[in-house]
Amino acid sequence: MAQTPVLNTARLTLRPFRLGDASRFVALAGSLAVARMTSDIPNPLYIWQCRRWLRQARGEVRFAIEHQGQLIGGVGYFCQRTRVGELGFWLGEDYWGQGFATEASRAVVTYAFTAGNLEALTSANFIDNPSSARILTKLGFSANGQMRTRSVARGHDVDCTTWRLEREAAQIIYRLPEPAVIAAGGWTRLFARISGR
Ligand SMILES: CC(C)(COP(=O)(O)OP(=O)(O)OC[C@H]1O[C@@H](n2cnc3c(N)ncnc32)[C@H](O)[C@@H]1OP(=O)(O)O)[C@@H](O)C(=O)NCCC(=O)NCCS
Repeated sequence: MAQTPVLNTARLTLRPFRLGDASRFVALAGSLAVARMTSDIPNPLYIWQCRRWLRQARGEVRFAIEHQGQLIGGVGYFCQRTRVGELGFWLGEDYWGQGFATEASRAVVTYAFTAGNLEALTSANFIDNPSSARILTKLGFSANGQMRTRSVARGHDVDCTTWRLEREAAQIIYRLPEPAVIAAGGWTRLFARISGR
């Protein structure tokens, strides 16, 4: 997979994280309200722990979400030796309730099924996180199960709903180009359409 590119949506810029994001990352993701809805963000969160999120590991595609030139959150997916990615997203509390997570995630889902060449995306939300369930529904995911997952910030396992979006469904919902067009680089034109350029 090539280096994470910059994607533009109507209001947001999605770009690779950089080490210089560390203090802003702690200010945003260090809130318990954010961390407790994720499986892997600890609380408290210290600056030395941030490198893990700012440096992209093998199999990860992570985007920093910027609004008006400021980091406001993160979105991305993780693939483990398969073409099925696990989607995740979060925003600093000041930026909730404005449609930003849906807007950013739509661009990443589109990217995952075009440039990323995935077969499916999965996700999971803690059952006390209805806004996340709503976003996944709006993105076209279908709920397909239940499980328990650890929340590092809470220090215990929490019931989750699991979700999945197949490539065939995404093809229709996101009006993706045919695979041959994607292979020929057609996804860059798709992003030009998304960002209105
Ligand atoms: C979850 C999170 C990313 C949402 O971000 P956001 O930008 O506010 O989300 P959006 O505005 O794009 O969409 C939220 C949707 O949930 C709905 N919603 C909000 N609170 C809700 C509730 N209590 N019950 C049902 N729906 C709710 C909103 O109305 C909106 O749907 P709509 O567009 O149909 O009105 C943000 O709250 C967050 O970062 N939380 C902490 C981390 C987290 O939960 N990450 C996801 C882990 S699975």
